[in-house]
Amino acid sequence: MSKLKEAIKQHGYETILDHVLINEAQLQARIQELGAQISQDYAGKDALLISILRGGVVFLTELMRHIHTPHHIEFMAVSSYGVGARSTRGQPRITLDLNTDVKGRHVILVEDIVDSGHTIDHVLRLLQTREPASLKVCALLDKPTRREIFVPIEYRGFEIPNEFVFGFGLDLDEYFRNLPFIGVVKQEYQ
Ligand code: PRP
Repeated sequence: MSKLKEAIKQHGYETILDHVLINEAQLQARIQELGAQISQDYAGKDALLISILRGGVVFLTELMRHIHTPHHIEFMAVSSYGVGARSTRGQPRITLDLNTDVKGRHVILVEDIVDSGHTIDHVLRLLQTREPASLKVCALLDKPTRREIFVPIEYRGFEIPNEFVFGFGLDLDEYFRNLPFIGVVKQEYQ
């Protein structure tokens, strides 16, 4: 069993957490602002919010509570990794596609984090071929120093440094997506 798995099993997140980068109150306040902005921008437009599983789902559920105009939600899943190797990010692959036709819809892609940008770029290119009326990105976290490809982000929660973060949808070995804050992983567990 890896050192990380062992620490998770025995102690939970406390031994792995170096520090809290964005606390619960900061997250809630910013998400409320984003929701208000989206409510204003999409009034009368019947927006379609698409969350990219699995990381984006916690952000989506918080965000939609602060959007006060009628909207729909949908889900997609994208796998960014080659078989068995987390260190080598492969070409993004759609593993769950939409059940909804986006043609003529005002689509907002809701993501937890934009890192290299390849995941969102791949989804944007695919959805563009389906002729939505508009297509924007709403990302909770933006790590611009890691960007490999330009991604237009219309709604951005926080710009963060190049730290190994987890919580609020972001996993550590698939755990801790439930944490109400964004934390930084201790160097020894990265
Ligand atoms: C994470 C995150 C984004 C993607 C961002 O997903 O949720 O989808 O990576 O990285 P990129 O900008 O370099 O493409 P991950 O593949 O870890 O899957 P998950 O959402 O199931 O955690």
